[in-house]
Amino acid sequence: MTTATVALARAADTARLAPSVHNTQPWRWVVRGARLELYAVTGRQLREQDPAGRLMLLSCGAALHHARVALDAEGWTHRVERPAAEPLAVIHAEAAGSVDPHAMHRLQLLLIRRTDRRVVSDEPVAPDVREALVDAARLGGARLQVLSRDQVLELAVMIEHAGDAQRHDVRMIAETATWVGGDRPAGTGLPDAVIPAELPLTTVAERDFGVSGTLEAGAGHDNAAAYAVLYGDGDEPADWLRAGEALSEIWLAAIHRGAAVLPLSSPVELDFTRQALRRILGEVGYPYLVLRLGTSDPDHAGPAHTPRLPGEQVIEIVD
Ligand SMILES: Cc1cc2nc3c(=O)[nH]c(=O)nc-3n(C[C@H](O)[C@H](O)[C@H](O)COP(=O)(O)O)c2cc1C
Repeated sequence: MTTATVALARAADTARLAPSVHNTQPWRWVVRGARLELYAVTGRQLREQDPAGRLMLLSCGAALHHARVALDAEGWTHRVERPAAEPLAVIHAEAAGSVDPHAMHRLQLLLIRRTDRRVVSDEPVAPDVREALVDAARLGGARLQVLSRDQVLELAVMIEHAGDAQRHDVRMIAETATWVGGDRPAGTGLPDAVIPAELPLTTVAERDFGVSGTLEAGAGHDNAAAYAVLYGDGDEPADWLRAGEALSEIWLAAIHRGAAVLPLSSPVELDFTRQALRRILGEVGYPYLVLRLGTSDPDHAGPAHTPRLPGEQVIEIVD
C-alpha cells in the first residue's frame, strides 16, 4: 500500500465517528490508490422519515468533512471532486507535507464530539460564539441563521405539529423503533445511555424517540438555549452533502468554544413543516436542519459515545 492509501484508509476510519441521523451511518468508502470514494448506503436510509435522502446525505457530508479534517491533521493536501452521479464525492490525496498543530487540534475536537440531549446550562451562547458558528457554516458551504425569540416560538409550534404527525404515524414509529433502544442493528442506532430518562423541559421540544432511556437530562429549563436553522441556496443532493460538511464544521467550532449542539430534524422531515420553516427564513433559502445551541456544562464530560460499525463493514481497500 502507498502512503496515500494508508492515509486515506485512516481518514475513512476517522469518518466513522461522524454524526448521522439516528446513528444510521449511511456511508461506505472505497480507497483506490490515492482516491477515496464516498458512497451513500440506501439500505440504511430512513425510508419513512427521509424519503428524499436529505438527512442521509447530510450525514454523508458530515462524514466527508471528518475525513478531510483527518487528512489535514496528517499533513495531506487534498482536493474533493463532486461527480454528478455516484460516487457522491472523491477525495484525491495530493501531497504529504508537514503536520500543522492547528489541523491536529481540529481533529482532536472531532474525536470528542457527541450529541448532547441534556438541558443546556443557564449561560447563554455568547454573541461572538454565535458569530463564529455562522462563519463556520459559511466556511463549510452553507448558511446558519440564529432565530429571534419570536421565530423560536414559531419553531416550537412547528416542532409540536411535526411531533404530533409523527406520533400518529405507525410506519414512522416502527422505523424509529428499529434504530433506538435495545434491539438495534449491531454497531448502529441510539443506546439507552444517550436517550433522556424523561423528556426535559424545553421551549422547543426535543425529539420523542418513543422510549425512555437512562440519560439524566437535568431538571432545569433550556431558557438559555439558542436555536438556529442550517440552510442554503439549493435543495438538491449536492446541497445536502455540502450542508453536512457545514454541520460538521459548525460542530467543530462549537466544541472549540464550549458550546453544545443538538440537531433537530423532525421539522425538515415533513413537507408542511419544512415549508413553514422556509417561511421563517423569509423564503431566502432551503432549510436542511434545526440546531439547538447551548453552553456545555464544563463540570460534566457529557453523555456516552454512541456505537459505530466496524471499519471492515464500511471501508473497502482496492489498492
Ligand atoms: C442529519 C442529522 C439529523 C439528526 N436529527 C436528530 C434529531 O432530530 N434529534 C436528535 O436527538 N438527534 C438528532 N441527530 C443526532 C444523531 O442522533 C447522532 O448524531 C447519532 O445518534 C450519533 O451520535 P453522536 O452524534 O453522539 O456521535 C441528528 C444527526 C444528524 C447528522
